[in-house]
Amino acid sequence: MGKDKNKKLKKASVSSDKLSELDMESLDGTDQDIKQPSAFLDGPHSSVQRLNKKLYESELKKLQSDLVRMQYWIKATGFRMIVLFEGRDAAGKGGTIKRLTEPLNPRGCRVVALGTPSDQQKTQWYFQRYVDHFPSAGEIVVFDRSWYNRAGVERVMGFCTQDELERFYQACPQFERMLVQSGILLLKYWFSVSDVQQEARFQSRINDFTRRWKLSEMDLEARNRWVEFSKAKDVMFTHTNIPEAPWFTVEADDKRRARLNCIRHLLSKVPWEDMTPPAIQLPSRPEQGEYERPPI
Ligand code: ADP
Ligand code: AMP
Ligand code: MLT
Repeated sequence: MGKDKNKKLKKASVSSDKLSELDMESLDGTDQDIKQPSAFLDGPHSSVQRLNKKLYESELKKLQSDLVRMQYWIKATGFRMIVLFEGRDAAGKGGTIKRLTEPLNPRGCRVVALGTPSDQQKTQWYFQRYVDHFPSAGEIVVFDRSWYNRAGVERVMGFCTQDELERFYQACPQFERMLVQSGILLLKYWFSVSDVQQEARFQSRINDFTRRWKLSEMDLEARNRWVEFSKAKDVMFTHTNIPEAPWFTVEADDKRRARLNCIRHLLSKVPWEDMTPPAIQLPSRPEQGEYERPPI
């Protein structure tokens, strides 16, 4: 049985390799100035040089103005979109989500970050509490962690049974196909961080009391189970990297590059057109007389 398991895992990591190569391609920007980290091609990505701050800021600004245009298009066409973020703790999902949503109209873009399921939710269909937050026409919903918890933290920490896990692997692709066939655009990003970089980020969270809340007990335990998480991710990919909803891996050891690559990629996946309304003339205010505040 042990042999069998090994065989399965080996197969799983092969397909994840392929995925990474593919994704390096799809996440490669066209901007000549932005050098892509090439961790999956040249070795561990912790050696990646940080992207120059000025370059990062100016590029982010351009991308964010495109995001605004994209949202106008989404609102105008009634498009529905789900973007989900997965990855290890401290991989930088939160920071990317922040930059992604920052310029957008919150009436039309929501971030969903669900916590541990309640006792009541545990009695429900596994996907139910996520479905509750799905987009209506013109909406973008961003999931900071998602139904993939079952294949990750729940599997590794033993929060679900083997049976539930198997059912998830079966159901998840079917579930996602249904979403996509209903017209929802689903984008799935995996934030990949190296062991060394994760440790450094945890350490800086410990050192900075304003960020200490970010370090949960779960994170520390997850570090102990690094290899288990790697296996879980590979198995998850083999089951859920479907043509209708492929995984995109974001090299996240350099946060700046990760944010730009991810946002640029997202913009390339939405068939948006510039529908920004033309500038309007601010009408002059009609004469209304002075307002006198009554005495209190
Ligand atoms: P963060 O998303 O901030 O990294 P944690 O690392 O504390 O949060 O937890 C990771 C994920 O594990 C969260 O989505 C959380 O809901 C989930 N989780 C924690 N405990 C349980 C549990 N007992 N059962 C199911 N999921 C859990
Ligand atoms: P992840 O599991 O994606 O967070 O990645 C954890 C570590 O494994 C990172 O250091 C990655 O660079 C490395 N890694 C993951 N997949 C591959 C791969 N296909 N080739 C080389 N390194 C990888
Ligand atoms: C991240 O930065 O990847 C996460 O959003 C925060 C965390 O690690 O808990």
